[in-house]
Amino acid sequence: MTPAASALRRPRVICHMIVSVDGRIVTGRWPDLGEGWGEYERTGATYGADAWMCGRVTMEPFATRVRSEAEVAREHTGGAPREDFRAPGAHDSFAFAIDPSGRLAWESNDIGGDHVVAILSARVSDEYLAFLRERGVSYLLAGARDVDLSLALETIGARFGVRTLLLEGGGRINGGMLRAGLIDEVSLLVAPVADGAVGTPSLFDVVGDDVAPHRLALESVERRADDVLWLRYRVEGRTT
Ligand SMILES: NC(=O)c1ccc[n+]([C@@H]2O[C@H](COP(=O)([O-])OP(=O)(O)OC[C@H]3O[C@@H](n4cnc5c(N)ncnc54)[C@H](OP(=O)(O)O)[C@@H]3O)[C@@H](O)[C@H]2O)c1
Repeated sequence: MTPAASALRRPRVICHMIVSVDGRIVTGRWPDLGEGWGEYERTGATYGADAWMCGRVTMEPFATRVRSEAEVAREHTGGAPREDFRAPGAHDSFAFAIDPSGRLAWESNDIGGDHVVAILSARVSDEYLAFLRERGVSYLLAGARDVDLSLALETIGARFGVRTLLLEGGGRINGGMLRAGLIDEVSLLVAPVADGAVGTPSLFDVVGDDVAPHRLALESVERRADDVLWLRYRVEGRTT
C-alpha cells in the first residue's frame, strides 16, 4: 500500500481500463479483439480486489432504469442530515456507483455476486433513499453538491472494509479521481486499435480548467493475447 493510501486508511486504488492507442475508451465500434477482450478480466483478477467503482454513465446498463434530470429535480430534498445505510447481509465484494443526484433506479442490489453501493451527494431526496433501502441497495452520502471523492473512499475503507479497489471508468470519474490525487496505480490494456472518434470519452477526462498532468512511473509491460499490451504504472504526482 502506498503511504498516501495507508495514511488515509482508504483502499488502494487501481484505475483499470482498456484503451485504444489514442486513449479512447468507448469500445462498441472497435473491431473484434478475439482473445484480447478477455484480457481485461484476466488481468483485473490478478489484483485480488474486493471492490470496483464506476461513474453513473458507465453504471447505467447495470441498473434497470435511469431517472431523468426532471424526475430527480421534482423531489423534495429536505434539509436534515441523513445516515449512511449498509444493507443487511454478509457482503465481501462490492460494486460502487458514483451517482451524485440519484439517477439510477436499481432493480437488484447485486451485480455478478458483488453488492451494489450507491455513492450519493446530499442533493438526493428522502424518497430516493427509501427506494434504495427497500431494494436492499447500500448507500453512503459524501459531499453537498458534488461527491466528495476523498471522503467517499475513506468511508469505503472504514465502513465496508475495502482494501483494494479497481476504478473502472468512465473518463469523467477517472478524471475526478486523478485530479483529487486518489489513484495509486494505472493498469492499462492497450488494444491494437486506432479509434480517432473526436469528442468521445477518453481515459482521463477532467471536468474544469484546473487540469494538472501527473507523472507516471512504469512498473511493467506485458504482451498479452492478440496484440493487447498490459502496461502498469505507479502514479507519482502532479507535475504542475
Ligand atoms: N474501455 C473501458 O475500459 C471502459 C470502462 C468503463 C467505461 N467505459 C466507457 O466510458 C463511457 C462513459 O464515460 P463518461 O466519462 O461519459 O461517464 P462516467 O465517468 O461513467 O460517469 C460520469 C458521471 O459520473 C458522475 N461523476 C463522475 N465524476 C464525478 C465526480 N468527481 N463527482 C461527482 N460525480 C461524478 C456524474 O454523474 P451525474 O451526471 O449524474 O452528475 C457524471 O456525469 C461509456 O461509453 C463506457 O462504455 C469504458
